[in-house]
Amino acid sequence: MSLSRRALIGAGLALAACNRPEASQAQDSGWRPDPRLIENPPSLKSLVRFPVGVAVQAGFLDDPAYAALAGRQFSQLTPEWELKMEYTVLPDGRFRFDRADRIAAFAQARGQRLWGHTLVWYANIPDAFQNLDESRAGFGQAFDNYITAAVGRYRGTASGWDVINEPITDSGGQLRDCLWSRKLGQVDYMRRALDVAHAADPNAPLLINDYDLETKPEKLNAYLRLVDRLLKAGAPLGGLGCQTHISAGLPDGAMAATLGQLAQFGLPIHVSELDVSLVAGRGAPVNRAVAEVRQAQVYRSVVDAFMSLPENQRLGLTLWGLRDTDSWLKREDVSDAPLLFDGSGSPKPAFAAVAGALQGQ
Ligand code: XIL
Repeated sequence: MSLSRRALIGAGLALAACNRPEASQAQDSGWRPDPRLIENPPSLKSLVRFPVGVAVQAGFLDDPAYAALAGRQFSQLTPEWELKMEYTVLPDGRFRFDRADRIAAFAQARGQRLWGHTLVWYANIPDAFQNLDESRAGFGQAFDNYITAAVGRYRGTASGWDVINEPITDSGGQLRDCLWSRKLGQVDYMRRALDVAHAADPNAPLLINDYDLETKPEKLNAYLRLVDRLLKAGAPLGGLGCQTHISAGLPDGAMAATLGQLAQFGLPIHVSELDVSLVAGRGAPVNRAVAEVRQAQVYRSVVDAFMSLPENQRLGLTLWGLRDTDSWLKREDVSDAPLLFDGSGSPKPAFAAVAGALQGQ
């Protein structure tokens, strides 16, 4: 892509970050969300053309209140863990997709899309692969078979896939060493996974997906180098996933700067796992009342930055959970409340911030 396009996008996003007086402040900007958006909450998915998603678990869908809220607000569902190898690959090597099928059926019945999360992850090494005492060819065949089975099963249902999840180290800007890289080669396993997934569903955007891109420049730069390397190698990379597990301490310009960097390749971008922690240990203001105000402001800054992308690069915006009580972050700190709806399913100021920003308010 020419520098001029790159410069234009970067400038546009930088401007977006600065077109609000509070942009440079990392503290309370004084802005508050419109309370009418809490009193009379719109359906988020009805406000924009791109998918607004939420991570769900099959078992939650049996709760009528949960199902109604997820169905009303969101247009895409990401299995939080039931389409990962930790569930789908049995110790004897057989596959099971029953729970992902449940989520897919729920989505299809409501005209929602399914997001395929995730095929290959350093953190998910099932026994069946760990114990596979095969040659590289045999291991590779098993690797290919899994990807083909999963992607092929949801061909036409899944709107896209996180093919490689979290390939970059937390520090040092390196590619992670994992069973996949050791058995099949560092970047080779990624290229292979993308090629096999593309063969199984040529129409599905295939992404890499990582976190802390907003707060760790070294990690972002390593991610950008990997994207460049995969594209130059001709890999069928169809988009970039930015997980965006952030805190209420995120400075307002950080997301715009990150998306400005990611946008340089012209690929669609998925803000794929958005939550904004209120916990000081994750970087939020210590004072809870301040953190809650900042949480809404940070949600607004994220959506503003996403809306500043060119329309063809807005692949989707996904929340990593429906209600605060559903959040994975609560396992680490039960006081955390990182999402848009409280435990009773009522919209929070964070919801109003997102709804307002999706409407350009
Ligand atoms: C987490 C889920 O939320 C948990 O329920 C599960 O136990 C572990 O995985 N980045 C990712 C997600 O890509 O798959 C992780 O989800 C959170 C971090």
